[in-house]
Amino acid sequence: MSLIILSVETSCDETSAAVLVDGTIVKSNIISSQVDVHRKFGGVVPEVASRKHLELINHVIREALDEAGIDFDELDAVAVTYGPGLVGALLVGVAAAKAIAFGLDIPLIGVNHLEGHVSANFLVEPKPNFPVICLVVSGGHTDLVLISGFGQYDLLGATRDDAAGEAFDKVARVLGLGYPGGPLIDKLAASGDDTAIPLPRAYLAGDSLDFSFSGLKTAVINHLHRASQKGFHVNKANVAASFRRAAVDVLVDKTLLAARQHNTGTIMLAGGVAANQLLREEMTRRAHQEARRLIYPPPVLCTDNAAMIGCAAYYKYLRGDFAPLTLNAVPNLPLGQDRY
Ligand code: KG4
Ligand code: ZN
Repeated sequence: MSLIILSVETSCDETSAAVLVDGTIVKSNIISSQVDVHRKFGGVVPEVASRKHLELINHVIREALDEAGIDFDELDAVAVTYGPGLVGALLVGVAAAKAIAFGLDIPLIGVNHLEGHVSANFLVEPKPNFPVICLVVSGGHTDLVLISGFGQYDLLGATRDDAAGEAFDKVARVLGLGYPGGPLIDKLAASGDDTAIPLPRAYLAGDSLDFSFSGLKTAVINHLHRASQKGFHVNKANVAASFRRAAVDVLVDKTLLAARQHNTGTIMLAGGVAANQLLREEMTRRAHQEARRLIYPPPVLCTDNAAMIGCAAYYKYLRGDFAPLTLNAVPNLPLGQDRY
């Protein structure tokens, strides 16, 4: 008999619901992006995001069920992201999932958003062999995680300041490219010279697996200030390409260092920045050189979506790891440490 899970994701600015069968067959994955609403503010406005989630949540869930051809009474469990993320945004998904779990008397599964990102890799072939080093790169996180099995995470390194995605978004803003910046920089960089502007790469002391992107971001801002003071023309494509190259160099070097330190044959990428073209290419090239396997999800499963939450929930279901109906949003929830 198959296991049908409805999953809900509202941690930031995408309202999403998905239906998964047996944790791997994605019957539907509806993603309603609020990007157009937040674009005029140059970033996500938390209060606006919560209100938008409220407007959309029931429609998105209905659409996910309809597209999957599944009725409420066929669901075996309902899963929801309960952190980390924006508290008001998370609460909308958590309240909806709790109501469904209570109304249908089915298990509620609370999922960590980062565990969701990691789990997007289990939706693609080939399936990873543990242990795995996973680089989790999103708008809020830049983490290197050693994964020894489903639900077994060791945080090896994290950013000490800006997350990688945050740096992409900020650099895009100073270049006047718009929001969200990551995909726009990625596209523009393709036509630029990535050696045009020397930019710093923060490797930090010793064999540290931590990251720092604020120096790189500041160097780009200083370059643009100097150019405008001296009246020089700025080639935006060259700036985008040089920045992207500097960020990717560090991400790739440290991920491979972690794989060598922990003797892992498989590397995974997760999170919105894992959609970056150069990161995917460079990681592929370098992993191949070192005879390590590389797995990454298709771009639509890298950025926020509910299918990844449903996949993570499936493995929690198999472990009997259910949340009580008192489940609350936990905005700073760490990976691997459930709070319910
Ligand atoms: O995982 P995600 O959708 O949301 C969070 O959990 O934060 O990641 C969003 C981040 C944003 O900072 C966005 O600019 C970045 O991922 N991003 C990219 C690309 N696509 C999305 N960054 C670089 N290159 C991309 N192609
Ligand atoms: Zn995310």
